Amino acid sequence: MDERTQEFVETFRVFLEEIVQAERGGDDGLSPLGELVEAHLGSPVRELPVITQTIAAHRLVDADLALSSLADASGAAPLGVSGGQMRDQCALPELLAGSRFARFAPGPIDYVSVADGPDSVRRVMSFGIVLLHFEGAPVVALQRAAKPERGRSAAAVEVLAADPEVAGAFLAEFSRLMLSLSVLRGQVLSFTANEYGNGAAGATFLHRPQVAADDVILAPGVLESVTRHVVGVGEQRERLREAGQHLKRGVLLYGPPGTGKTLTVRHLLSRTPDTTAVLLTGPSIRFITEAAELARAMQPAVVVLEDVDLVAQERGLHGPQPLLFAVLDALDGLDGDADVAFVLTTNRVEMLERALAERPGRVDLAMEVALPDDDARRRLFHRYAQGLPLGAAAIDAAADRAAGTTGSFAKELMRRAVLAAAEADRAVTDADLAEALDSLLSSSAQLTRSLLGGGGGRGEGAAESAPAHTQPEVRLTAGWTAYSPCSGQTFEP
Ligand SMILES: Nc1ncnc2c1ncn2[C@@H]1O[C@H](COP(=O)(O)OP(=O)(O)OP(=O)(O)O)[C@@H](O)[C@H]1O
Ligand SMILES: [Mg+2]
Repeated sequence: MDERTQEFVETFRVFLEEIVQAERGGDDGLSPLGELVEAHLGSPVRELPVITQTIAAHRLVDADLALSSLADASGAAPLGVSGGQMRDQCALPELLAGSRFARFAPGPIDYVSVADGPDSVRRVMSFGIVLLHFEGAPVVALQRAAKPERGRSAAAVEVLAADPEVAGAFLAEFSRLMLSLSVLRGQVLSFTANEYGNGAAGATFLHRPQVAADDVILAPGVLESVTRHVVGVGEQRERLREAGQHLKRGVLLYGPPGTGKTLTVRHLLSRTPDTTAVLLTGPSIRFITEAAELARAMQPAVVVLEDVDLVAQERGLHGPQPLLFAVLDALDGLDGDADVAFVLTTNRVEMLERALAERPGRVDLAMEVALPDDDARRRLFHRYAQGLPLGAAAIDAAADRAAGTTGSFAKELMRRAVLAAAEADRAVTDADLAEALDSLLSSSAQLTRSLLGGGGGRGEGAAESAPAHTQPEVRLTAGWTAYSPCSGQTFEP
């Protein structure tokens, strides 16, 4: 550091000290906002404790509905806070205190648009204060949205009342209303990380899938068993509870890519229209704790953890344990009588097996969604050829040639046949189907075949391209029931 810089640093240090001194010895009155709040509460605000409730970012709409309802009941209108962006860093007492550097005063309210359904948004107060009465006593509540860009990953409501007991009762009622008015209940949701990487950005609302049982072609008994476990238990909720049986359940769907695990999940969601569903895939599985909390609050609920093997090795946000253990702990953390179903999918079951064995009792049904056998493959081919002018014999022949392939292969095959015919400006024919199959089974399409799942087929190179994990071997662990679609039998270890 040269002399001039040193001199500047020293001058700057003295300047800062003077500012801090000036602030300390500064005006100890109230800001204009503080005066308004004090007049409302009828008590010196400096002496009152503030009770803060943090609110997960995805519950901001619920908080807004709850606070609006309490404000409406008391005929109060919210107000905003002017005085600069510093207010984001200031807690409620600081907004009310007088300062030479920021004079917070009533001003315009800040709003933000937040989704409250798959196709709708609500204008939500992102920074504002309500001066209201609760059970006859004056209360002040500040609502602020999360600001991940400034390190505030959760929203909050800060409450001030002359009597701290009133503040407590107010917050209890606020929480009750958040739950009863929640826009998340009965919805299909996914969580995504915010762009600053310090928490969930909020919930994304998805349309509930509509997949009929007939659209899912699996080995006999597989879909029925999974549906019974996930949907049937919920339908018999009252009787099971009366008989002292637990409702919480965990299902693991495992099998090669493209065999219909996600399709099965989509069918389950269409069978449970009033159930709150949270879908977490790959990286967003780190929001498992939030998802489990939401599921408990909004039950009946389904939590889907897709491709859970992707997090088997990953370290979680909550400590040095692999994220998978956080997942399994979340499954365990809920009360047994919570009507919550966890559905896990994976195509690398061997990566989960040890963790599941070390923490038994979380998953009570493990179901293999295997490569389709000859009969299932024919049904798949007919399903995806529906409405096309193709002969039954040609479809069967194609299915027989495509041994080792999956449902997603059948679907892509039909699309290619139809595309080839469309390019020639005519309807699809049996020859188009055969040609499309030749091309997909050729060795040059080996990677495509693998991407479609299964990767087999009787074409050249088919044997080499079949993935090693097409028939995963699962050792049974206490607490599991495994179902073999091949033998149609259920094994209890
Ligand atoms: N058993 C099946 N019945 C009907 N269609 C199927 C079946 N399997 C696959 N398909 C078709 O292939 C598509 C992809 O299947 P899906 O996404 O369910 O595979 P997956 O088992 O979840 O694979 P991955 O392990 O790669 O996630 C489905 O949307 C469906 O169109
Ligand atoms: Mg899938």
